[in-house]
Formats: sequence, C-alpha cells, structure tokens
Amino acid sequence: MNILHICADPKPTEESATKQLAVAFFTKIAQLSPDTNITNVDLYENPPPYLSYQAIRGFWYPVFIEGHQPTELESKEGAYAIEQGKLFNESDVVVLTVPMWNYSAPGILKSWMDQVLSPSVTYNLDKTGARPLHRVKRLVLLASSGDTFKEEDPRDSLSPLIRDAFQAVGIYELSIAWADGQYEFIYSDSEQRKAMAVEAADELAEEIAEELGSAVS
Ligand SMILES: Cc1cc2nc3c(=O)[nH]c(=O)nc-3n(C[C@H](O)[C@H](O)[C@H](O)COP(=O)(O)O)c2cc1C
Repeated sequence: MNILHICADPKPTEESATKQLAVAFFTKIAQLSPDTNITNVDLYENPPPYLSYQAIRGFWYPVFIEGHQPTELESKEGAYAIEQGKLFNESDVVVLTVPMWNYSAPGILKSWMDQVLSPSVTYNLDKTGARPLHRVKRLVLLASSGDTFKEEDPRDSLSPLIRDAFQAVGIYELSIAWADGQYEFIYSDSEQRKAMAVEAADELAEEIAEELGSAVS
C-alpha cells in the first residue's frame, strides 16, 4: 500500500493537535502494515507555487480548445503539478493533515490542490466528465479547530472543500478525524476532545490497514 501524506501545518508537532493526529495515524499504520510506503510532503518545506496563467493554459486550454498544444513555457510552469501529481497517482490512500484556518484550509493546501487537481495531471476531463488517472481509494482528513463544530455545521468550509474537490476527480471515500474545541482558553475539555480525535485517527488507520494493507502492494 502506498500512502501520500500532505501536511499543511507549519507548527511543530508538540504544539500541533493536527500533527498529533497524524502521529497516531501513521504509528498505527506502521504497526499493522509495516510494508506500507509512506511519502511525506510537508508543504511548508516545499511550498506549491500559485497556479500561473501559463500553467492554466497548459492544463486547462486543451480541454476547451481543440488542438491546443502546451508551449514550452506552459509545460515548464506545470512542473510542480506534474511532480506532485505523479506521487498522487501512485497512491492508494491520501492523508491530509490540515488545521482549520478561517473556517477553511490554509491557503498553502488550496495552492497544492489547484496544482494537483488539474486536467491531464490526476484525471482527464472531457464532456463525459472526469476520468481518473490515479488509483486513490481513500482520502483521510486529519483536522483540528479552535471552536467546536457539530456535523454539517454551516460554518465548516473545510470538510466540504475537501469532499467536493476530491469527489470531482473520482474519490468518494472520505474519512475524517477532527480535534475540535482546541481553544483551551474557551473549552476546558480541549484535552479530552483531542484524545478522542487521536483515538479516531488510530481507529481509521486500523480500518485502512485491514482493508488495504495486504490487498495492494
Ligand atoms: C490563521 C488561523 C486561523 C484560524 N481560524 C480558525 C477558524 O476559523 N475557526 C476555528 O475554529 N479555529 C480557527 N483557528 C484555530 C485553529 O484551527 C486551532 O488552533 C487548531 O487547533 C490549530 O491546529 P494546530 O495546532 O494543529 O496547528 C485558526 C488559527 C489560525 C492560526
């Protein structure tokens, strides 16, 4: 099994609830499925460029303009997307480690998505819809937030962003472990909330290792 781990949190692990969920998840994967190949991409170490005009021309114009051939410059501007798209396409599971910022994802993750979720990179697009070039079966969102959130809370623009963007490229299995209520100065049960989310991340890893661990290599 190949797992691609995209981390969009700049804080050190000891200060980051989200990264602590990732530690729990990957510790369990390593225990139960030691053959798993894990590729870690720390977006703060290797920041994605904003999608440029030339990259849009290179990836999107062939969809709309028959016969459009990407120029040398358009191809050059698409290099980050191609490199990350290759990692994505080779993965069975993608794990996103994402703190909630302004009710959504940090901009750095959105930049990565704008690059990787491009036509001809991770899927082909025509009038019949998107046809995946990837083999990703499961998407895992490890998240945390300062405030508490109920399921389908209208303020949550993080999980709908992730769900919709990845569904559009053919990934329908989204699992979430979410440490909410992490504003300790407001919520006296922050630690319990984090512990519950750590347990959820651990259980998710168990489920995935059982389901996919030996099924794919
Ligand atoms: C720039 C920024 C924006 C934030 N926006 C929100 C928000 O909209 N809603 C919320 O509940 N918490 C918000 N928070 C709080 C974080 O989601 C919370 O502290 C979370 O636990 C951070 O995860 P981390 O410790 O893993 O980095 C924000 C924090 C930062 C730094």
